[in-house]
Amino acid sequence: MSVQKEIKRITTHILQEMKMDGKKISMLTAYDFSFAKILDEAGIEILLVGDSASNVMAGHETTLPITLDQMIYHASSVVRGVQKALVVVDLPFGTYQGNSKKALQSAIRIMKESGAHAVKLEGGTEIGDAVKRILSAGVPVMGHLGLTPQSIYKFGTYSVRAKEEMEANKLKSDALFLQEIGCFAIVLEKIPATLGEEVSKSLHIPTIGIGAGGGTDGQVLVTHDLLGITKEFKPRFLRRYMELFDEIKDNVQHYIQDVKSGDFPNSTEQY
Ligand code: KIV
Repeated sequence: MSVQKEIKRITTHILQEMKMDGKKISMLTAYDFSFAKILDEAGIEILLVGDSASNVMAGHETTLPITLDQMIYHASSVVRGVQKALVVVDLPFGTYQGNSKKALQSAIRIMKESGAHAVKLEGGTEIGDAVKRILSAGVPVMGHLGLTPQSIYKFGTYSVRAKEEMEANKLKSDALFLQEIGCFAIVLEKIPATLGEEVSKSLHIPTIGIGAGGGTDGQVLVTHDLLGITKEFKPRFLRRYMELFDEIKDNVQHYIQDVKSGDFPNSTEQY
């Protein structure tokens, strides 16, 4: 009889314990079954079905065009590939801002139709009603402060946020507010490292940084950036572990050559 090893799923409580024990949390984006399976098997703690799918998967310039139906499609594909990681899904632009009832409906659709475990929303006090209403339905919420790409037309650029005191103070009070109303973690995007560390130390819930320095409780990157599939995107905070765009291109060119020369398929590659 084979003994199946029980897989212990990552929960929001485990993430909380990791923060208390000083263990760093790893998070990456995933938008499909195959990548989710690889990243989950590698041991990632959180998989984010980010609305960056709008850029990376669909080729849009911003995250604004992606729809709730499209996010649910990506999220359900990811959930099918995962055994262990906590799957968090972005509520896309226009599905929660300014309307807490709509926010709850959007979150419930994600949870019911994809099987994901939590949602992420961008913003602080201005989305407080939406966050509270979603939490009241028992859906875990991750916050997102600093550079919030859904507000790109308000900021005008993707440059570092909260360098000035006023914006830094607003970020600090937003972080405390999100913690107080019940968020289980907060993403801090593209802010000075000193601020990332200060906010992380002031909170008892974990912070996950992207371009927020080494003082946050965890790190997140867009998987396609880390693997070098998005060739032109090279912000300072990004560490590329592979150059997959070039590697895939070289190998596809090799395949094309083999097809054209008649080398593929050979006698062992046919019936
Ligand atoms: O959509 C996304 O990929 C994100 C991460 C950059 C945090 O929100």
